Amino acid sequence: MNDLNALPADFTWGTATAAYQIEGAVAEDGRSPSIWDTFSHTPGAVAGGDTGDVACDHYHRWPEDIALMKQLGVGAYRFSIAWPRIVPGGDGPVNEAGLSFYDRLVDGLLDAGITPFATLYHWDLPQALQDRGGWPSRETAEHFAAYASAVTQRLGDRVKDWATLNEPLCSAWIGHLEGKMAPGLTDLGAAVHASYHLHLGHGLAVQAIRAASSDARVGIVNNLSPIEPASEREEDIAAALRADGHTNRWWLDPIHGRGYPQDMLELYGVELPEHAGDLATIAAPLDWLGLNYYFRQIVTADPTGSVPYAQQIYLPGARHTAMDWEVHADGLEQLLLRLTEEYGARRIYVTENGSAYPDVVGADGTVDDPERVRYLEEHLAACGRAARRGAPVAGYFAWSLMDNFEWAYGYDKRFGLVHVDYPTQRRTIKGSGHRYANIIRAASRRARRAA
Ligand code: IFM
Repeated sequence: MNDLNALPADFTWGTATAAYQIEGAVAEDGRSPSIWDTFSHTPGAVAGGDTGDVACDHYHRWPEDIALMKQLGVGAYRFSIAWPRIVPGGDGPVNEAGLSFYDRLVDGLLDAGITPFATLYHWDLPQALQDRGGWPSRETAEHFAAYASAVTQRLGDRVKDWATLNEPLCSAWIGHLEGKMAPGLTDLGAAVHASYHLHLGHGLAVQAIRAASSDARVGIVNNLSPIEPASEREEDIAAALRADGHTNRWWLDPIHGRGYPQDMLELYGVELPEHAGDLATIAAPLDWLGLNYYFRQIVTADPTGSVPYAQQIYLPGARHTAMDWEVHADGLEQLLLRLTEEYGARRIYVTENGSAYPDVVGADGTVDDPERVRYLEEHLAACGRAARRGAPVAGYFAWSLMDNFEWAYGYDKRFGLVHVDYPTQRRTIKGSGHRYANIIRAASRRARRAA
């Protein structure tokens, strides 16, 4: 683990979760249904018919969850705020009970010495707004900014680090093009318009956050993948370029003031719903970039498939997690360097990284997960190597604090550092959680020695 010596002394060690994946209490204290309530209750949409109705019951058990974070020794916690708790109608009146839940959570974190990193949108759009057009409609972007303003006005005295959106790629491409996530559409035009309004909502929210809190530090969280062609064939190289546009450049170029990539505009053939001044709003200066990294993509041309006409291949012999995602830590180093060199990033957080494995509680009550330990060590080492090569990596948030509702995969896929036994809601720190705690302790000792 010598690579970790290259991380800065004030490196942020954190864990992450998202509201719908852990909170449960979907009908409590004025929360309205989100598109994920609708989607998860649609027969056949989620494995095993699972829903987020109860999830990890974090809405009631948050003090216990903060205590677990304290045991892990993390210095920061990235969580998301549920828009349907704060503005149940999507726009209009703000729900005091919703705000006070996050108020208590933030105070609890600060009392425990844990810095809150709040994400404003992790996919749970109020269903009321979906009924009026959802993200393909411009008004959703405007309502998002109003919601962001209400939240920042209330929490901005204590929360300084804000992410506008989590993985807008998933909202737009998986939710509107592939139909595998809420709202479950398969419409390229709607997907492109959703992506545009997500970006616009992001830009408007940046303005709203800064207006409400002058010392806020604002970022956006993208999930990115390094893309490689499966062969030297010209078709595969072209497919890799398209996949890179679809997965990476479409999400990075506009927020960096470069507009949307021309090759992708041509490929999609969808006119953007652009108004004068939008591109400048979308490119609002940010304090940090969030990178969620899980896997690389090796692709081959797929002319009969759907955009971007690139098929990911499965590498036999490679290590894969329970999600069938290849374990490839070098990809994290590559992306950190790409953000630095190509996009001039000045501060990057790895806002998510983690692995699902089929963990079981042993007869002695412990959860041994050596594959996740190895995954964690390898990816942290990749952060260290990137830092040594000049990437401004400021922190790492392990996905996830605890096992939770893994969207269309339901509860079967376990990403936690903490095991959750859903019938009893008993939490057990896994081997990986103990390992992470040791790594954090060692890093703090190094930092103290260096001070
Ligand atoms: O669980 C998700 C999370 O909500 C967003 N990023 C990827 C994780 C694992 O799939």
